[in-house]
Amino acid sequence: MGHNGAAITGCGAALPERRLTNRDLEKMVDTSDRWILERTGIRERRLLEEGLSTVDLSERAARDALDGAGIKPHELELILVATVTPDYPLPAAACCLQARLGAFRAAAMDVAAGCSGFIYALAVADQFIRSGAYRNVLVVGVEIPSRIVDWSDRSTCVLFGDGAGAVVMQPADGERGLVAFELGADGRGREHLYIPAGGTVLPTSAETVQRQLHYVKMNGTEIFRFAVRIVQETLERLLEKSHLDYGDLDHLFLHQANLRIIESIRKKLRLPREKVPVHVDRYGNMSAAAIPVALFEEKAAGRLKEGDLLAAVAFGAGLTWGGILMRW
Ligand code: UT7
Repeated sequence: MGHNGAAITGCGAALPERRLTNRDLEKMVDTSDRWILERTGIRERRLLEEGLSTVDLSERAARDALDGAGIKPHELELILVATVTPDYPLPAAACCLQARLGAFRAAAMDVAAGCSGFIYALAVADQFIRSGAYRNVLVVGVEIPSRIVDWSDRSTCVLFGDGAGAVVMQPADGERGLVAFELGADGRGREHLYIPAGGTVLPTSAETVQRQLHYVKMNGTEIFRFAVRIVQETLERLLEKSHLDYGDLDHLFLHQANLRIIESIRKKLRLPREKVPVHVDRYGNMSAAAIPVALFEEKAAGRLKEGDLLAAVAFGAGLTWGGILMRW
């Protein structure tokens, strides 16, 4: 007999205070407020203060999520950190966070699935809880893209922002909790969004640094097309699995990469604006942090009601995609 699936019992988010506006970017690269706004919907993004790291921002989000769930760090059994921007290439950011929180009973690992990482990590947490192995799991989605983008490359540096979101997952009561998940990957698209150097193909050297190969490279047009297609396919599979319909959705949380992607999906599915939260205008693309920050903001605003059906779908580097359906 299986156990109950997992429900989110606490949420937290942390955004750096420093804002970088499109006007600020006009002074750094050959771009304009108008281009950025029209092509992406982004007005400003946050930048982590110098001297702070992934774990500093993660800790703030994690402590709020723990408080929300009413548990202490030492009660955690598993910490999953969805990120591609850990404090160090080795070890996992989750181990740095475990030490910072003093959560020494918890196993800790990172989930590196690009912008889909938080959704992947929710599905992993759900499986550990459903199997009965763990009851208290912390899932963090955090990204500090400002440390891996080339600030002289206008095609990427205007898009991203730093942020962290966290949730605590525990066995669900009654109808609440994760209803279904859908994960996928297509590694043939790995070079559409990647960092060429610093791995085993091109270990870091003076030459790789001089050639700027330690920065993010992206083929935006390919990812745009992929995103619009894969989000709809993922949602359809989730709803079909669960014998539900678009009309049953109370909230659709989409990865926040570009307002044009969000709007094109929203219009295709004929969903009203209030069901599809947007923060890309304020925070830019925060990769794995985008969905947990949106969850936190919707909950804080009182818009998530017990029993609401929500879907969350993300896509990103890998290429990867992932979606979940959850009863709040
Ligand atoms: O998180 C998951 C990963 N990322 C994504 O989901 C990103 C998905 N893709 C996108 O959001 C869009 O493709 C972008 C916003 C990245 C780009 O928008 P686009 O409408 O596809 O523009 P484009 O790349 O086709 O570029 C159009 C023009 C180019 O000039 P030419 O070749 O037409 O003369 C670019 O050089 O815009 C130019 N351009 C810029 N101009 C001003 C590119 N970046 C900028 C910029 N400011 N920052």
